[in-house]
Amino acid sequence: MTQNLHIVILAAGKGTRMYSKMPKVLHEIGGKPMVARVIDTAAELNPDSICVVIGHGKEQVLEKVKRDVVWVEQTEQLGTGHAVKTALPHLPEEGRTLVLYGDVPLTDTATLQALLDAAGSEVGLLTDVLDNPTGYGRIIREGGKVVAIVEEKDADAAQKAVKETNTGILVLPNAKLAGWLNSLSSNNAQGEYYLTDLIALANADGIAVHPVQVRASHLAAGVNNKVQLAELERIFQTEQAQALLKAGVTLRDPARFDLRGRLKHGQDVVIDVNVVIEGDVEIGDDVEIGANCVIKNAKIASGSKIAPFSSLEDCEVGENNVIGPYARLRPQAKLAADVHIGNFVEVKNASIGAGTKANHLTYIGDAEVGSKTNFGAGTIIANYDGVNKHKTVIGDEVRIGSNSVLVAPVVIGNRVTTGAGSAINKNVADGRLAIARARQTVIEGWVRPEKPAK
Ligand code: UD1
Ligand code: CA
Repeated sequence: MTQNLHIVILAAGKGTRMYSKMPKVLHEIGGKPMVARVIDTAAELNPDSICVVIGHGKEQVLEKVKRDVVWVEQTEQLGTGHAVKTALPHLPEEGRTLVLYGDVPLTDTATLQALLDAAGSEVGLLTDVLDNPTGYGRIIREGGKVVAIVEEKDADAAQKAVKETNTGILVLPNAKLAGWLNSLSSNNAQGEYYLTDLIALANADGIAVHPVQVRASHLAAGVNNKVQLAELERIFQTEQAQALLKAGVTLRDPARFDLRGRLKHGQDVVIDVNVVIEGDVEIGDDVEIGANCVIKNAKIASGSKIAPFSSLEDCEVGENNVIGPYARLRPQAKLAADVHIGNFVEVKNASIGAGTKANHLTYIGDAEVGSKTNFGAGTIIANYDGVNKHKTVIGDEVRIGSNSVLVAPVVIGNRVTTGAGSAINKNVADGRLAIARARQTVIEGWVRPEKPAK
C-alpha cells in the first residue's frame, strides 16, 4: 500500500570543518557512514521513494554507500532550498516529502513518525529548544503560531534571543512544493536559497505549520566537526551498551565498549573493557571476552573464552575453545570444539579439529588439521612459495615438535610425531616419527678460548 511519502536527504555539502579528504556524510557513526544510517532510517518508514542529493565527493559517496535510492547531483551548493529543488523532478505532485540530512545521523523513526502524524497534509517542522541557540535558524511565532524561520545571520537582536530552533527536518505537501521552491530568492545574508523560507510561504498560502519538539537534542543534532562526531558516537554507543545490559550481557564497563555492527548473543555473556565488535558477530552462552579484543564478523560458540588482546576476523570458534591472550584468528579460520589457540598464534584459512592445541608462537595457514593434535611452540606452516599458496593436511593425534617448519604442500598422517626443529617437506604416513634436522655432534677434548687472568 502506498502512503505517498517521499523522502529527500540532503548530502551535498563538503564539511570543511571536518578537515578531511572524505565528504562529511561518509564519516561513520557506529561503523556506518552517516548518510547510510540516514538512508536506512528513512527506509524503515517504507516511503514510496528516497532521493539523496549529493555533490561534494559524490563518486566517493556512490562508491561507499550501496543503497537502492535515487541519487541526484547538486553541482553547486546554493542552499538547502536549492538542494531540495534539484530533487523536484523525482517527486510526484501528490503526497508529501520529508526532508532529512546526511549529517544528522541519529534521528529515529519514532521522531519522524510523530512529525508525519502532526503534519497531516500540511507542513510539519521538527524543532528543538536550546540554551545556546547560536548558529541555528530561530522559530518565529505570532500568537503561538509558527510563522517563519529566521537564520542566525539574518536575525535581529530580539530574534537571536529566541531559544526555539529549527532542526532542519520538515515535511511538506508535494502539491505546494514546486511553487514554493520556485519562488525562493537568495536575497539574504548568505546569498543562499533557504529551505527555511518555505515556512513563511506556507503561512502566506494559508497552510498551517505544525511544530513538533524533538524528545532529545541528539535525535536532530548535526555533525559539522570531529567534536560533534565524537559526541554523537558516544551517545550512540551508550544506547547500544544499555540495550545489551538490559538484555543480560555483562559489560564490565559500558563506557568502554564499542559495537560497530550487530551483536547476537546468548545468556551469561561477559565482555571486559575496551572490546570492539564490528560487522556481524554472534556469540553463544557463557562466552567470555577478555579486555582489548577486536572481533569482526565472527561466530563464537557457547562456553568459549577469548583472552585479552586477541583479534578475530571472519572466523568461527567452536564450543569451549580457549583463545589467546594475543591470538589472531584471520579469515576462514574454523575451529571445532575444545580447541586451544594460545599467545602469538595466528590461524588463517584453516580448519582445526576438536581438542587440537596450538598454545604458543605458531602460524597455521591454508591447512586442514585433525583432532587432538598438538603443535609445539614455534611451529610454522610455510604455505607460500612467493607465488602460490599450498595446502597442508595434518591428521588426528599428531604431535608436531617445537620449532618445526611444515613446507606445503605436505600431508602428515594420523598419530605422526615430528622431531623438534624439523623442516618437514615430504609426506609422512600414519604413526611414523619424522625427523628432519642435522644430527648433534659433540667435539671431545675441545678447549674453549678464555681471557687471560688479570
Ligand atoms: C540549516 C537551517 C537552519 C537550521 C540548521 C540545523 C537553512 C537555510 N538553515 O542551517 O535553520 O537551524 O540547518 O542544523 O536551511 N546542503 C546541501 N546543499 C546545499 C546546502 C546545504 O546539500 O546547497 C546540505 C548540507 O550538506 C548540510 C545541510 O544541507 O548537510 C544543511 O546545510 P547548511 O548549509 O549546513 O545549513 P545550516 O547553516 O546548518
Ligand atoms: Ca549545518
